[in-house]
Amino acid sequence: MSVNNTQFQNQLLEWFAENKRDLPWRKTYDPYQVWISEIMLQQTQMDRGVDYFNRWMKKYPDVYHLHDASEQELFKSWEGLGYYSRVRNIRKCAEILVRDFNGSLPQTVKELQKLPGIGPYTAGAISSIGFNVTVPVVDGNIGRILARYFNIEEQLKLPKVKKHLWQLSEELVPDGRAREFNQGLMELGALICTPRKPNCNTCPIRKECFGYRFDAAHARPVKGDKVVIVPIYMATGVLVHDGKVFIQQRLDKDIWGGLWEFPGGSIERNETPEETVVREYEEETGFEVELENKITITTHHYTRYKVTLHGYFCRLGNNAQLPELSSAQDFRWVEPKELDMYGFPSGHRKLINHIQDNNLL
Ligand code: ADE
Repeated sequence: MSVNNTQFQNQLLEWFAENKRDLPWRKTYDPYQVWISEIMLQQTQMDRGVDYFNRWMKKYPDVYHLHDASEQELFKSWEGLGYYSRVRNIRKCAEILVRDFNGSLPQTVKELQKLPGIGPYTAGAISSIGFNVTVPVVDGNIGRILARYFNIEEQLKLPKVKKHLWQLSEELVPDGRAREFNQGLMELGALICTPRKPNCNTCPIRKECFGYRFDAAHARPVKGDKVVIVPIYMATGVLVHDGKVFIQQRLDKDIWGGLWEFPGGSIERNETPEETVVREYEEETGFEVELENKITITTHHYTRYKVTLHGYFCRLGNNAQLPELSSAQDFRWVEPKELDMYGFPSGHRKLINHIQDNNLL
């Protein structure tokens, strides 16, 4: 992970240095300005946010000016931005900051999160952007980038997935460069890795991005609609030895239990489909396989999944013919024509049909 992290970090930092927008709080990174900008930008478009921000800073250039303003006045300054609990919380914060922090903001996520209206995202943003503390941030934009890059196959709103996103963000944030790095992610989400029609061709981290490599950016993050069809990307190998084909029978307790299949599985981040086949054979059978030609790519719609399956021919790289099955209950070496006697999941059946229709075996 660490080598790839370095690439990810450097490419993003370089891109941010060259492409960042000229936003007013980026001149000095005054933590007070960073705080107000972050609160304003919640639920607010950037252009509007910047207008309000500039007017706000003319009237309340620091925490003390804010503290001395009347509620009436602050509400007037917020007028049109909506979500007025935000300005109420800003006021409460100003009280605490003057009383307990000499009119400054605390630097740590832990202390920031104790302040009204400041949750994990805003605390991470203020700490990293305002103070350059090495802490992660995750918001909707960053979640989208990570889901595409790392091929996250579940909805981002699930608690365990949220936790995973924060872990990824923490692993990625480079020591001492959190200010630029976290803003780089935000900027990438706003300018390149957009919800619809992302500009993958100009993305600085596309090379290792799952969404780019499989033209699957539109399919990530997985949508939270009621009927969710999750696109899954898999690879499988048709292992041929002495004219016979290896098949294994799925465990009864698993999905498609009792059906037969060629070993394979989900393509993991940074893997080519070829690498998936080699890894899966090793894991599922102990066989060392070598790849031959690609057969085809099939797609099949299931109730909850759409599976894109990359199929390859492969041969044994060692002599072992007795598999050590880890995720199947039985196996056979069969003649190609015998494949029709076994039940396969539809993606695998389509692969067999393609092989037969084209006389590939
Ligand atoms: N959206 C929220 N905070 C942002 C920031 N600091 N830079 C760019 N976009 C943002």
